Amino acid sequence: MRKSVQFECRFVSDELRSAAAAMQPTAIGCLDALRTGRSAGGEWTGWFDYPARRGWPVLDSVEQFVRKNDTFFDLVIVTGIGGSYAGARAVSEALSHAFAHAMPRSSRIPVVFAGHNLSENSLLELLDLCDRRQPVVNVISKSGTTTEPAVAFRVLRSYLEKRFGEREAARRIVVTTDAKKGALRALAREKSYRAFEIPDDIGGRFSVLTPVGTLPLALAGFDVRAMMEGADSVFAGLREATPAGAGAAAVEYACLRKAAWDAGKRIEVLSVADPRLSGYVEWWKQLFGESEGKGGLGIFPAGFLSTTDLHSMGQYLQDGVRNLIETFLVFEKAVVPLAPLAQDTVERRLAVPAQNANSDELGYLEGRHIDDLNMTVTQSAQLAHADGNVPVFEVRAPRLDEYHLGALFAFHETVCGISALLLGVNPFDQPGVEDYKRNLFALLGKPGHEAAGAALRKRLGR
Ligand code: PA5
Repeated sequence: MRKSVQFECRFVSDELRSAAAAMQPTAIGCLDALRTGRSAGGEWTGWFDYPARRGWPVLDSVEQFVRKNDTFFDLVIVTGIGGSYAGARAVSEALSHAFAHAMPRSSRIPVVFAGHNLSENSLLELLDLCDRRQPVVNVISKSGTTTEPAVAFRVLRSYLEKRFGEREAARRIVVTTDAKKGALRALAREKSYRAFEIPDDIGGRFSVLTPVGTLPLALAGFDVRAMMEGADSVFAGLREATPAGAGAAAVEYACLRKAAWDAGKRIEVLSVADPRLSGYVEWWKQLFGESEGKGGLGIFPAGFLSTTDLHSMGQYLQDGVRNLIETFLVFEKAVVPLAPLAQDTVERRLAVPAQNANSDELGYLEGRHIDDLNMTVTQSAQLAHADGNVPVFEVRAPRLDEYHLGALFAFHETVCGISALLLGVNPFDQPGVEDYKRNLFALLGKPGHEAAGAALRKRLGR
């Protein structure tokens, strides 16, 4: 069996450990509630064990669609926001060549993201890119009404129709949305766009294993089957009453987070050591922020990119307000087996070069792999932050690839579900996000929101 996600309390006080240990039976009860759909928000627990329960046939249809259509495009544009884009972005950023945009050619079809902001610059520049490419657009929105992706999609749809005509534009558009409800579903029906479903019982931030994540990633050539297998390997350890492997680790981690909360910790920093993991951190921030942060409760999720941030926020971590916990996300083999110009998986390494002179005083590092130095930075930071009274945890995966990213998705979703339930909040709603969405509709003058719009404008003094 392949090694999956491991969890370790690296440097944690005995009090925190014993408080967490005492919570284990309650946490296992929460896990059981997630498994059986009897938790708060139980109608949204369809993500739990999704690969085994429903995921494989859905993945078959995604892959079949991609096989039939992978000949006419050389750019994938994903239009979505929040849970409707963050997972696909996490994987594509983690596993793509960091300088693909500047390379003369790339072995992979680039995937770019729109609709997660309202920057006119971004959309104008995206149209510039489209002019030089053969794009396909995957618009993703569970509600089908979220303003940012809806606006971006209208811009892209108009562009495609103008450039290719309605019929060819329709071939280049694929919709992922609710099975029945929402403006996007209605549009897909009207225009005969190919459409994939976001299941009723899976919310945006828990949907990466559904076509929300798998379709754009498969279109761009990522191994979504391996991603699903990785997730399945974690869920396998959670199927029984007594969790095993990564499942048991998820329970342990959730208990430690709750014990830390009870001890006054209010911020969790997820620390990663490669810029290609920034997208994963963003996915994680949304998952925990939207799931736990309600009713005046919840640990605030923050990202930390090593070594960059060690030279900026590192000071605060070391010595600022002691209300932090820090989790290091570590990959034992972090060098992605990715060749920029060919479809091979050559293992590549880079060491500090030997030189005759030692004027830069780096002679003692000659021959050491850069990634080994990076791992040493992680260890140094763990020790330093522990000395600064920050409880330090480590989530560790054997290598950075689709399989282990899938395993991490399942692992973090489960930790998040249990953590929120231990805290006493419904992990699956997001009333705060809905508040902002309603205000935006009202202020933009969406029909049906006139009274709210007038009241809000008065408050703004406009
Ligand atoms: O997790 C969630 O449910 C939200 O963050 C949504 O993903 C986000 O608001 C986008 O919503 P929609 O997919 O309906 O456009």
